[in-house]
Amino acid sequence: MSNDGVNTGRRRFLTLATTVVGAAGAVGVAVPFVGSWNPSAKARAAGAPVKWDISKIEPGQMVTVEWRGKPVYVVRRTKEALESIRKMDGRLRDPNSEESKQPAYAKSEFRSIKEEFLVLLAVCTHLGCAPQYKPEVGAVSQDWLGGFFCPCHGSKFDLAGRVLQGVPAPTNLEVPPYRYLSDTVIEIGVDQEKA
Ligand code: FES
Repeated sequence: MSNDGVNTGRRRFLTLATTVVGAAGAVGVAVPFVGSWNPSAKARAAGAPVKWDISKIEPGQMVTVEWRGKPVYVVRRTKEALESIRKMDGRLRDPNSEESKQPAYAKSEFRSIKEEFLVLLAVCTHLGCAPQYKPEVGAVSQDWLGGFFCPCHGSKFDLAGRVLQGVPAPTNLEVPPYRYLSDTVIEIGVDQEKA
């Protein structure tokens, strides 16, 4: 059964990755210079950083960006989403991200450089499926305040990628290195310099 689950996750990732390639292509047509920002598919697979224009992400929306052959979620959080994160106290396994992986600049309640934008590796810390983005209150359970749900074995994470208690995933979703090149463009794969 767990094998089926993992395969489902892989299939899902392939779908997501395909979607992103499609989306990136579309952006390239609309804004010609965007295409030149990002390295070739071969360079991306080898780990080259990836730039993304976050100004096109609507509040509450999530986009999936491929980095090092893995999906990275970029979420533009609403005010309500940020408030829900503040209400998660007592329900989290690692609320302060002491045992979880993230750059030092993302080791905070919101696990991000700027509160509004969350950047997360979309790989469940249990067995590697792609968690689903479920921002709606009540979407997964009655007391659900929004977050990420892994369909493989039921792990739950809040809107900062922090793991809830009582699920198989041991730690929070990983935050990859990233930095702001401007107010509207981030680069995934390169660390933010210390202020
Ligand atoms: S892979 Fe098992 S819960 Fe996500």
